Amino acid sequence: MDSPLRVLTVPTSPYPDQRPGTNGLRRKVRVFQTRRNYLHNFIQSIFSSIDLRDRQGSTVVVGGDGRFFNQTAIEVVVQMAAANGVSDPVCVNLLNLCVHGATWCVCSHTHTHMYPRPQVGRLIVGHHGLMSTPASSCVIRKSKAIGGIILTASRHPAGPDGDFGMKFNSANGGPANDAVTNKIYQISRTIEEFAICPGLRLDLTTLGKQTFDLENKFKPFTVEIVDSVEPYANLMRNIFDFAALKELLSGENHIKIRLDAMHGVLGPYVKRILCEELGCPANSAINCVPMENFGGQHPDPNLLYAADLIDSMRDGECDFGAAFDGDGDRNIILGRHGVFVTPSDSVAVIADNIFCIPYFQHSGVRGFARSMPTSAALDRVAKATKIELYETPPGWKFFGNLMDAGRLSLCGEESFGTSADHLRERDGLWAVLAWLSILAYRRQSVEDILKDHWLKYGRNYFTRYDYDNIDIDTACEMMEDLELLIADKSFAKQRFAVEDKIYKVEKADNFEYTDPVDSTISRNQGLRIIFSDGSRIIYRLSGTCSDGATVRIYLDSYEKEHIFQDAQVVLAPLATIAVKISQLHLRTGRNGPSVIT
Ligand code: G1P
Ligand code: ZN
Repeated sequence: MDSPLRVLTVPTSPYPDQRPGTNGLRRKVRVFQTRRNYLHNFIQSIFSSIDLRDRQGSTVVVGGDGRFFNQTAIEVVVQMAAANGVSDPVCVNLLNLCVHGATWCVCSHTHTHMYPRPQVGRLIVGHHGLMSTPASSCVIRKSKAIGGIILTASRHPAGPDGDFGMKFNSANGGPANDAVTNKIYQISRTIEEFAICPGLRLDLTTLGKQTFDLENKFKPFTVEIVDSVEPYANLMRNIFDFAALKELLSGENHIKIRLDAMHGVLGPYVKRILCEELGCPANSAINCVPMENFGGQHPDPNLLYAADLIDSMRDGECDFGAAFDGDGDRNIILGRHGVFVTPSDSVAVIADNIFCIPYFQHSGVRGFARSMPTSAALDRVAKATKIELYETPPGWKFFGNLMDAGRLSLCGEESFGTSADHLRERDGLWAVLAWLSILAYRRQSVEDILKDHWLKYGRNYFTRYDYDNIDIDTACEMMEDLELLIADKSFAKQRFAVEDKIYKVEKADNFEYTDPVDSTISRNQGLRIIFSDGSRIIYRLSGTCSDGATVRIYLDSYEKEHIFQDAQVVLAPLATIAVKISQLHLRTGRNGPSVIT
């Protein structure tokens, strides 16, 4: 028998900048590679943040989007989980893991039998280290894990010069809340040691259980390599009418679709569910081989980065198209000739047709929600159907809280995220199956469904301008100045005229959210200027960028009558006002946004 693997306690020094952003810790790959123990510190901070009682005999899920550095990081996560996972009641000084501030800290070597050591009982790891974000959420919930570590920088490019990220999801399968991420951050600021089992070598290619004997441990440490496609597919089978979808996609009068996985993690899920099970021809699923650098592309399903897909649909051969991001939680929905459904409209259309999806026929509809910058299209459906509408800050954790409390069924963000309460993340493939269910039921084109929707409710024109890589101080100064400006009483009476359009300010504030479930208050969530006709300008700094600052300007304008115009033309006056008020171009020397969606 091989000798048991050694567990080491390694001294380290803290970094001041490991505060998780809107969705985990995102940094350039180089930061993780070149800053000594940068990765280890964060992983230890995650483990140390979990309450000892929760850790005993627990299950933790580990998955990633397959990007460059994914495998290296997974290896370290596993080695550290093993070292943090022992139910040995005997204190062995060498193994003592001392992280000040953690409730189970056993740094005093005079303590011998006092504290059981924290235990991670079992790890569930994705085959080849792959697990989409929605599948991770699904597996965490199904396996009753205490949480999961998801290695992804979502839609950001990958490769040695690209981004890497790590986030911790809680037992509900959703992104950890602020209390947990703050705890992780606080621990990371004072961390002095981490525990690791460096000799542990995991075989990510073989499905099934692998056990490892560690020195001074009574029980072996178990890792289970799973194919996450199957449990995810099973969840989808229980939500949608697969027979109806099969008829739509491969029956006599089937439609043609094109799905682009952008070489992200979703390829195998698309292949298995759409091609193998629902009968789509193989060529309807493109870029389905996950690649470390996403094929050199930007795996972000928006108008700019999904332009190839949109172009390929212009000839009108395909009736429906969609693309997903690196970790498979985002989606873009397209109709014939590349007609674009904004994510704000997408969630509103799904809401209005929600009973095309069997899951909701059974579970009913408890509430709708959108993030604050998302257009108010969903509000109109909520009002008409008398279903509660929640407006939350950006980030999925707020939705998760409402879902856990049984108050929310369907939600979406303008940033290409749509999902429901079947799990606690955005779910790109779910959104596609939701749209296909509507097409199967209504047998209309995407464009006609969208037009009917606007005819019924009026249209919220929406766009987002992103200014990337802005100097952080300049961006913060602009936000501070803007906040002062809009807080001034005289601002509330101002009128802005652009050509023949006049906008009268009705309300301006810094958005603040009080969680209706646990009453936690999230402040400073974006500056809003709301005009008397309901149009809005919103300014926010991104919480997910890895370099410099990204300033986001969101524009939303409602029209009851003129619903078939070009969005950019309709929103141009608001854009002019937004730039003027903030003096963004003057301050940054830019003359336009980096990306318009
Ligand atoms: C972005 C999106 C936001 C989303 C978040 C996490 O955050 O805008 O809607 O919840 O990614 O994926 P931001 O960079 O704007 O902070
Ligand atoms: Zn993502």
